[in-house]
Amino acid sequence: MIDLHCHLLPGIDDGPADVATALEQARAHVEAGIDTVVCTPHVSHNHANTSAGIAEAVAAFQAALDGAQIPLAVKAGAEVSLSRAIEMDDDELTALHLGGSPYLLLEPPLGSEVPRLAQLVKGLASRGHKILVAHPERCAAFHRDDKLLAELVKDGAIVQLTAGSLAGDFGRTVQKLALSMASQGLVHVVASDAHDPTRRPPGLAAPMATAKLEGLTAWACQDVPAAVLAGQPLPERPAGATPKTKRRLFGR
Ligand SMILES: [Fe+2]
Repeated sequence: MIDLHCHLLPGIDDGPADVATALEQARAHVEAGIDTVVCTPHVSHNHANTSAGIAEAVAAFQAALDGAQIPLAVKAGAEVSLSRAIEMDDDELTALHLGGSPYLLLEPPLGSEVPRLAQLVKGLASRGHKILVAHPERCAAFHRDDKLLAELVKDGAIVQLTAGSLAGDFGRTVQKLALSMASQGLVHVVASDAHDPTRRPPGLAAPMATAKLEGLTAWACQDVPAAVLAGQPLPERPAGATPKTKRRLFGR
């Protein structure tokens, strides 16, 4: 499987603090069945990472992985905050795309209100960036406005949920919204957004199974991520893989 959203580079953001911890996290990725990770450190007003710095860190960490004989491929990417993305030039923004693909992993704010969020996202798309929206189920704007995500998808964005959200790691409210987004067919990618080996660990198939979405795992964690990285049209969502009724999702 391919993990499109993950904090794995040591000492570059709020992910693993040092190489030893990052290697431990990498081993956990491999144990969870992941062979490729796109490293997506924060690029925001709090984390001033650049495409050049990230590329250098990825090359150094791949060498560390190879040296430790951990069978994991790492690629460069970034999780760019919306407020930072709208003020960056297109060359740097393009250099921050996921693995050199046409896609930008865009992080809406978790808590604060953003006026005209849909228009801002549309503006970025009109500048030639395909938008992958990072974990909307954790962002306040999508809790307040249940039509916002459908509007972004209609405008051409695709959507990444965090696996732990589906399994309830961020609480019941986030889990319910994540499952609702999946049941509405508004989700294209599920990624770990892992930050360390234990507190926010790697894992895709297990949380998907917990959420009874195992029928969607290959599509959302392998086939769509592969198409994203290749810049190819997305494969069709498998029929019947998403629970349709609220009773099956939320009953018990
Ligand atoms: Fe993240």
